[in-house]
Amino acid sequence: MHDISSPRFARIVGTGSALPERSVSNAELVAELAERGIETSDDWIVERTGIRNRYLASGDETTATLGAQAGQRALDAAGRTAADVDLLIVATSTPDQIFPSTACLIQRELGAFGGAAFDVQAVCAGFVYALATADSMIRSGLARCALVIGAETFSTILDWSDRTSCVLFGDGAGAVVLVADQLPGILSTALHADGRHASILCTTGSIRRGEIVGHPFLKMDGQAVFKLAVTVLDSVAREVLDKAGMAVEDLDWLIPHQANIRILQATGRRLGIDSGRVIVTLDRHANTSAASVPLAFDVAVREGRIQSAQHVLLQGVGGGFAWGAVLLRF
Ligand code: ACO
Repeated sequence: MHDISSPRFARIVGTGSALPERSVSNAELVAELAERGIETSDDWIVERTGIRNRYLASGDETTATLGAQAGQRALDAAGRTAADVDLLIVATSTPDQIFPSTACLIQRELGAFGGAAFDVQAVCAGFVYALATADSMIRSGLARCALVIGAETFSTILDWSDRTSCVLFGDGAGAVVLVADQLPGILSTALHADGRHASILCTTGSIRRGEIVGHPFLKMDGQAVFKLAVTVLDSVAREVLDKAGMAVEDLDWLIPHQANIRILQATGRRLGIDSGRVIVTLDRHANTSAASVPLAFDVAVREGRIQSAQHVLLQGVGGGFAWGAVLLRF
C-alpha cells in the first residue's frame, strides 16, 4: 500500500499505442477459418464476446516493433525523449526470443540506453504488474522516468483450428510514461496470483535440450476463466479503492482487461459503476492480453474521454492465475 504522506509519487504524463497494419473483421476471420474447415460466425463471436475486429501482426511486425512504436508515441505525448528514460518495463507473454528481454530489444530500437530494462510476465495482468513495479521503483528513488509498455503478438501462439480460442485474441501494444512528481499520480496498487489455477489458461511449450517440449499453442478453459475473472476483478477493485480511502462513486473511469464484453459488464454491474464509465475497446482490438489495458487507456485519452485530474481504475486478469489493479489520478 502507498504511504499517501510520502512526498514522492509516480504520475503518468503520456500515453501511446500501436497496432499491426492488418485489420481483420469477424467476417474476414470467419471466411478464412471456413477455408480451413472451422465453422464459426460473426453472430456467435459478437454475442458471446463483444469482439467485432482484431489486428494481426504480419511481415516484420513483432512484439518488440509494436512495443517500440507505442513507447515512442507515449514519449512524444509526454514531451520526453528516450534519453530521459531510466527504467523500461515491458509486460508480455509473447516475447520475440527467450532472451534478451523484449525490454532490451525495445531499448535498442528506441535508443534509450543505460537505464534498467526488463520484462514482466503475468499474462493479461502483465501491464498492471509492470505499472505497480514501476510505481514502487519511482517512489523508492530507484528511477525517475519510466516507460511501461504492454506488447503482445498472441496470434503467434493461437491454434487456428481451435475456434473456442482463436477468435478471441489480437495483437497490439500500449504504453505510458511515468515520472517522479510531488503530485499523485498513482494512488494505490494491488497484485495477486494463485498458481493452483495454472492449467485453466496456459501455453506449456518451451525449448529444452534443443527440443520443443509441451504444447505450442494457447489452451483455455473459457468458462473457468470467466467465473474466476469476474470474482477477482470485483475484489481487487474494492481493495485499491479501500487503500486509497475512495469509493466507487469517486471513479471517473474503469478500464478492465479487455477479454469479453460480458466480463466487463458483469464487473461494472457488481461494482455498481455506470456502464458509460467503463472503457471498452475490445470490439475494435479483441483481447490483446498485456497490451489491452494500456491500449484502451491510450484510445480513451486520445478520444478526449479520459481527461487530466480524473480518477481511473485499471484492472488486469489472466493466466497464472494472476490479477491486479492500479488506481490513479491522471
Ligand atoms: N463459434 C461458434 N461456436 C463456438 C465457438 C465459435 N468460435 N466457440 C465455441 N463454440 C460453441 C461451443 O462448441 C459450444 O457448442 P455446444 O454447446 O454444441 O457444445 C457453444 O459454442 C458454447 O460454448 P461455451 O464454451 O459454453 O461458450 P461460452 O458462452 O462460455 O463462451 C467464451 C466461450 C467466449 C470463451 C467465454 O467462456 C469466455 O469469454 N471466457 C473467458 C475467456 C477469457 O477471458 N480469456 C482470456 C483471459 S485473459 C488471458 O490471460 C489470456
